Amino acid sequence: MHPAIAIDGPAASGKSTVAKRIAERLGYTFINTGAMYRAITWYALQQGINPQDTSAVIELLKSIPLKFGKEGSQSIVICDGSILKEQLTLPEVNDNVSVIAAIPEVRALLVDKQREYNLCEPVVMEGRDIGTVVFPNTKFKYFVTASEEVRAARRAAEGLTDSIAERDKKDSSRAASPLTQAKDARLVDTSDMNIDQVVDLITQDIQSKLA
Ligand code: DC
Repeated sequence: MHPAIAIDGPAASGKSTVAKRIAERLGYTFINTGAMYRAITWYALQQGINPQDTSAVIELLKSIPLKFGKEGSQSIVICDGSILKEQLTLPEVNDNVSVIAAIPEVRALLVDKQREYNLCEPVVMEGRDIGTVVFPNTKFKYFVTASEEVRAARRAAEGLTDSIAERDKKDSSRAASPLTQAKDARLVDTSDMNIDQVVDLITQDIQSKLA
């Protein structure tokens, strides 16, 4: 069994940056699961599929040409031989990803792929349901959050348009694996912390549990 570090939290809570840095420190692979939901959203939109048309999205899953792989020590999504990057943060992807992520069939497909990453190696995985659904038995669970004002300011500083409050509402209220803190997750409120402080705190906690 390889360790799986679960980092969950709302949009723009800083969890991606934190998860990536923790993975670097521990020498584990960093898995960005939001990118996987974004990739399916981007591909569906490319195909002219209305994300609200659940049957069409489910049909698309049968032949979707996306590959979930790794480059160095990070997860990547490949479509027709190219790594998806800027496509994943397009405004239309931000606006529709929560609808796609609420479809149970989409989640089932991606949860399987996410677990596969941990079969051969330790991972730091960030998302919304990692501690509750993907790795419910891991002892390394962190729920990283920050006030809505701080999170909105962080997104704006990145120059990205993203209605995070609306996305969080949809992600928290959906029936399938909603965004929620696992009962046994450690809550880390980063509103008044810098990245180094958050990375130190979580890494030390992991190391004390590994010892
Ligand atoms: O982490 P992110 O903002 O890139 O995630 C994009 C969307 O994907 C988010 O609004 C909800 C969904 N998501 C999810 O439902 N489950 C995950 N494990 C990761 C992301």
